[in-house]
Amino acid sequence: MDRGLDREAIEEVYLATLGFSGWQLGNSSAIAAEEAGRPGVSTVRVENACASGGFALRLAVDAVSSGRRNLVLVVGLEKMTDVSNARRRYWLGVSGDTEWERLAGLTFAGVYGLMAARYESEYGPVREALSAVAVKNHAHGALNPNAHFQKLITREQANSGPMVAAPLGLYDCCPVSDGAAALLVARTDRARQWTDTPVYVVGSGAGSDHLAVQERENLTRLDASRQAADEAFRNAPFDRKRLDLLEVHDCFTIAELLALEDLRIAPRGSAGRLTLSGATRLGGRLPVNPDGGLKAKGHPIGATGVSQAYEVFLQLRGQAGARQVRGAQRALTHNVGGSGATAAVHVFSAG
Ligand code: COA
Repeated sequence: MDRGLDREAIEEVYLATLGFSGWQLGNSSAIAAEEAGRPGVSTVRVENACASGGFALRLAVDAVSSGRRNLVLVVGLEKMTDVSNARRRYWLGVSGDTEWERLAGLTFAGVYGLMAARYESEYGPVREALSAVAVKNHAHGALNPNAHFQKLITREQANSGPMVAAPLGLYDCCPVSDGAAALLVARTDRARQWTDTPVYVVGSGAGSDHLAVQERENLTRLDASRQAADEAFRNAPFDRKRLDLLEVHDCFTIAELLALEDLRIAPRGSAGRLTLSGATRLGGRLPVNPDGGLKAKGHPIGATGVSQAYEVFLQLRGQAGARQVRGAQRALTHNVGGSGATAAVHVFSAG
């Protein structure tokens, strides 16, 4: 049973947002505290591009696990659709390297296109696996009333979508979405004051990498994700083999394959085979992105990492409706900033 919350109990507010299109660039966290009914409490804006939400959650977990706070609010939001295409392209690029990559015309779709092309040259054809990711995540999104796209697509559609940045087509890309999500993060020994069924954060990790892709050692792995996952599992009371579901950062279909390998769920070069086997679908051995992922649920930058944790919250409480992963007890969220310059990973358990 949930017992409701007196807003006075909220002791701190974290706002995760890029501030896409330039709205209220300074001091925007004050609005979050104000709108939460708690003007006066400490409030901070967290900006790590698409990983802002994951890092805001991490700060909230630190605040309560250190005993500094009993209850904090984490809000993630982005409003992306009310600008012209040119401004949208500008804002989609601000989280990558500017001098050498962005000004030379490299978009995020372009960066992930390079990763996909390199992946193919190292491990062989990947088109069918990329399309399988898109078809799966659209199928999951169709079960999520909050998803941006709630429509099924076929393998043929995914294979033949208009080209965006070779080899990635339309259905390999996340859309541009508006969205918001919020979480209440409580001290473990206080959570039952508000609910009989809290969800526990049992591991938290983060990492970073060179901002410019050209400085990176390797194009087919994201070292920030690997560092984040390894740290998260160093603290967690169980191994990744015991996870029941994953929420991973599939901003482009290739990113879901890389995530499965960076999280060490699949050996390098094998995430495509795992996906094609059906293991990562709802009903499969390890469902990935049951809410539709960034691909279908949408990717409102600052909200994404928060919404991943919200999905895990629903799943581990058995409240995910038509997309419920049966008997889910342990889950992971993986949230990447830009093209992998930052990443945060959290591990959760139902009890
Ligand atoms: N997947 C599936 N369908 C999509 C889609 C996507 N990612 N994006 C748009 N569509 C659909 C729209 O619903 C629309 O369908 P309709 O004609 O039936 O209404 C159609 O495609 C055209 O939509 P539009 O908004 O004009 O598309 P666009 O060409 O302007 O944009 C992308 C398409 C892929 C370029 C854009 O979604 C994009 O830039 N995505 C990546 C965002 C990004 O980089 N985020 C940061 C990641 S790190």
